Amino acid sequence: MRPRNDYRQYDDLAAEWWRTDGEFAALHWLADARARLVPEPDPGAVAVDVACGGGLMAPHLRGYRHVGVDLSHMSLQLARDHGVEVVRGDVTALPLADECADLVVAGEIFEHVEDLEATVAEVARVLRPGGTLVCDTINSTWWARFSLVTVGERIPGGPPPQCHDARLFVDPRRLVALCGDHGIELKVRGLRFSVPQYAAFLMSRARPVRMVPTRSLAAVYQGTGTKRARVDD
Ligand SMILES: C[S@@+](CC[C@H](N)C(=O)[O-])C[C@H]1O[C@@H](n2cnc3c(N)ncnc32)[C@H](O)[C@@H]1O
Repeated sequence: MRPRNDYRQYDDLAAEWWRTDGEFAALHWLADARARLVPEPDPGAVAVDVACGGGLMAPHLRGYRHVGVDLSHMSLQLARDHGVEVVRGDVTALPLADECADLVVAGEIFEHVEDLEATVAEVARVLRPGGTLVCDTINSTWWARFSLVTVGERIPGGPPPQCHDARLFVDPRRLVALCGDHGIELKVRGLRFSVPQYAAFLMSRARPVRMVPTRSLAAVYQGTGTKRARVDD
């Protein structure tokens, strides 16, 4: 068994990426929730998908030039098969030019990194002034640890076993402050799954589950923000 939070798990589970009823089912639901925060693209707009995994944002970023960065070879291959321009790299040192992105998407990655500060700095570096960040991650609460690790790893629709190291879960105040340090005013809101839809998923696994906004940031939350324009612009 791999250690907790080893990115090579995503190579091992590559066949699961595009199964809507499989190990990554909830990532499909989260991609859909993320997509609702994505602005309409201007012609030629570039979206950088930080830790793109198997490319689940591809259907939601049509109209953008979709560039995905990840460490997992197998995931990148799948993302490419779904039309993403992929580049292998670490989110703490993105192999991309400064201010190349009109949109940065950072879905379910901040809770996987040892160096959150470097990751946020890189996200901000590649985002152009006036560009948008859309992200989601997991809070560093006992409830998130209980619901997404202790219980979550044992129930359908929960994260795969060993996927998370709760030590790396992210306090939203810290994320907002780090983004602010890099010129991005991040607004956050909680997310939870629709209870009736999750009950239906448990019965048949036939339909996706809608993630709905909630006031509580105690477990999963999403954020969106715009990078401040330079004063000389
Ligand atoms: C939970 S998945 C999220 C994937 C995708 N953003 C989504 O929401 O479908 C986490 C992804 O982060 C990647 N990853 C983990 N650590 C990374 C790092 N330091 N640099 C780049 N990718 C990383 C993994 O390979 C995996 O594809």
